[in-house]
Amino acid sequence: MAATAVKTSQITPAAPFPSVFTLPQTAQLEALYTIIRDKTTSRGDFIFYSNRIIRLLVEEGLNHLPVVPKAVETPTGSKYEGVSFEGRICGVSILRAGEAMEAGLREVCRSVRIGKILIQRDEETALPKLFYSKLPEDIASRYVLLLDPMLATGGSAMKAVEILKEHGVLEERIIFINLVAAPEGLKAFSTKFPALRVITGWIDKGLNEKAYIIPGLGDFGERRYCE
Ligand code: URA
Repeated sequence: MAATAVKTSQITPAAPFPSVFTLPQTAQLEALYTIIRDKTTSRGDFIFYSNRIIRLLVEEGLNHLPVVPKAVETPTGSKYEGVSFEGRICGVSILRAGEAMEAGLREVCRSVRIGKILIQRDEETALPKLFYSKLPEDIASRYVLLLDPMLATGGSAMKAVEILKEHGVLEERIIFINLVAAPEGLKAFSTKFPALRVITGWIDKGLNEKAYIIPGLGDFGERRYCE
């Protein structure tokens, strides 16, 4: 049976990026971001509140997956014409910060396969370089939730997508899940990969001279992993 069109997400693209979706900018979400942006927030609270946002992002990412009709019978003996997900998914985290998003994906999708990609700056060329990858062997037949909390220039994320494409994953089957994005990174990323959807929690003002997101939250990995 053919998959129904993707129609379940209630959120609309973030202008001016047609393939970028932000979570509903509610007061509750802003309160969560205020906590994780605050430099006085403890590591424990940073983990707790960033996990809450990651959970919302993963749930929204799943809203972008296609579904097919599925009828079930309920305990009342009635028929219910529902839907079920079409196709299988996997997560791929961009190390090291993306690893922090894996647990949020596992909470929502039990026994999901997860791959990893490590990209670092090549000191000679100053370009992002692949150092390590471990991906499910059948990744080309899966939808991929690509996980990285901070989208600054977009260099690592673009390299990660190139690697996924080299492994046969179609661009339109990749959903990039991200906590904070800079407009510079979003522009470069969505111009290069227009068919790929980006789900972000917040679009910030821009980048500083060290390519940190402003106002941002500092170094996500440091805040999450170091006391
Ligand atoms: N990575 C981070 O952790 N923070 C930024 O602001 C940009 C990239």
